Amino acid sequence: MAGIDPATGKVSKTTLNLGNLPPRKQSVAPVAFPRTPTRVNPNQPPWPAFRGYHEYSFAHAVMGVRLPTILAKAIQDVYLTMNAEYEEERITDLLKCVERMEKLMDDLQGNAKLRTIIDDGAGDVALWNKEISKYFKGKDFMNAPWLFAEAYKYRRLRECFSLSKFWVEYDVFFRQKCDTFSRSATAVFELASRFAEPTILDMNLTPEEKRTKDKLVFHELAQICLWGNSTDLSLLIDMTEDDIKALQSTGGDHLAATEKNILGNDLKVLGDLVTGMSGGRIDFILDNAGFELYTDLVFADWLIQSGICREVHFHGKILPWFVSDVRRQDWNWILNQCVYGHLFQSEDQKNDVSEDDIAHLRTLGMRWKQFEQEGKFQYHQHPFWCTGFTFWHLHSEAPDLWDTLCESDLVIFKGDLNHRKLTYDCHAPPSTPFAQAIGPLASEPGAPPICSLRTIKSDVVVGLPEGVAERLDETETENWKISGKYAVVLLSPGDRGVKI
Ligand code: F6P
Ligand code: MG
Repeated sequence: MAGIDPATGKVSKTTLNLGNLPPRKQSVAPVAFPRTPTRVNPNQPPWPAFRGYHEYSFAHAVMGVRLPTILAKAIQDVYLTMNAEYEEERITDLLKCVERMEKLMDDLQGNAKLRTIIDDGAGDVALWNKEISKYFKGKDFMNAPWLFAEAYKYRRLRECFSLSKFWVEYDVFFRQKCDTFSRSATAVFELASRFAEPTILDMNLTPEEKRTKDKLVFHELAQICLWGNSTDLSLLIDMTEDDIKALQSTGGDHLAATEKNILGNDLKVLGDLVTGMSGGRIDFILDNAGFELYTDLVFADWLIQSGICREVHFHGKILPWFVSDVRRQDWNWILNQCVYGHLFQSEDQKNDVSEDDIAHLRTLGMRWKQFEQEGKFQYHQHPFWCTGFTFWHLHSEAPDLWDTLCESDLVIFKGDLNHRKLTYDCHAPPSTPFAQAIGPLASEPGAPPICSLRTIKSDVVVGLPEGVAERLDETETENWKISGKYAVVLLSPGDRGVKI
């Protein structure tokens, strides 16, 4: 109550005694999702992030179990290499790499704070450290967003070697990447026998007839290229040869049966876009080496031979990345192995592989090398693909790369990780339209048509018709978001006026 202060004679402030009423609520404004674009940053995606400490999420299993397993396997790989070395200086240098890998294992398992990357002179250090200092100071492996923490682990793995004298370029996953291709013989030769013969364009076909035919081939090849992604190494740890064979089946019946598993399916409109091109340019943001890369090459080969494209650009990684991702040496390896290799020689394989099979594969490899020489196939490796930034930041953090992609008639992002980076890897509602989920990639001026060909292997899911995710949550016994059994083919028109 107001009153006179006897000491000063002034009127004192009014106070109310409201002891019997409920306490006053602290007014914390609830965060509205999606966040407005200006509030979005790597630690605050448009919808809530997945983080390793979320025990219900796949992020938890990956951070707690899968990454340590991958790292332990990588250490074994280094020992294999060391066993074949004879120079003392090279051996002791490699041992120091192992010590650094063990320290990384301790940090990962002890949930250490994310420190900055040691300056090893590589061009990506500044980008990494800027992101760490600006958004992840004090964060650890488990409470940083999963996407960043996982990518960071692969950059730290690189650091184990980049600080060495002799092993800077060493790829701990190279052996495994080669192995999966050799273990994919059935599907490799099946495709080689169908596509080795050069395509002869039938001049008697009207343009409409040619387009109808192209659409049919496109429909199958795009799906082969899509499902080629289901056999990546980070998930293959426990798979048998028969499991791989089943996943890689390329027959028409099998494809028709699996098309119902494409939950968000823009294949038809994508086919209209692609077959409407003549002498165009398509870019593949590659995912995995080995069998998946082989399916990408078969697809690209047809795009060139059919006259749809004059050039196809392939974008790979500069670092050993998420176990199976394509690097320049994996690209060179597959082209050269198709031509010169003696793969598929294991006891249970060699009786099934004919001279014709080998000849078909060689024909493909020679044609692809020729395409590369002629500039019809162009391979690139921009450092941005191996940062912790999502692709929402592509135009601002890598404007040169964005400008090149804007010259393309279609940019195809392969695989799960690329999809996570396109969509900011967060809890977006499953029915969120793809163009909304990829933000600036769809809305920036000059944005090209962007397509995601992804078998679903992690939590983020967008672009599904209403009710589909809820139905699968109820009916599927295993986690349908990580099984690799389902997929999406999603297209954003960009700002070119492509009708969807
Ligand atoms: O370790 C899990 C993960 O990062 C998942 O995102 C994904 O399932 C996989 O690795 C990589 O998949 P992809 O090779 O298709 O990007
Ligand atoms: Mg991959």
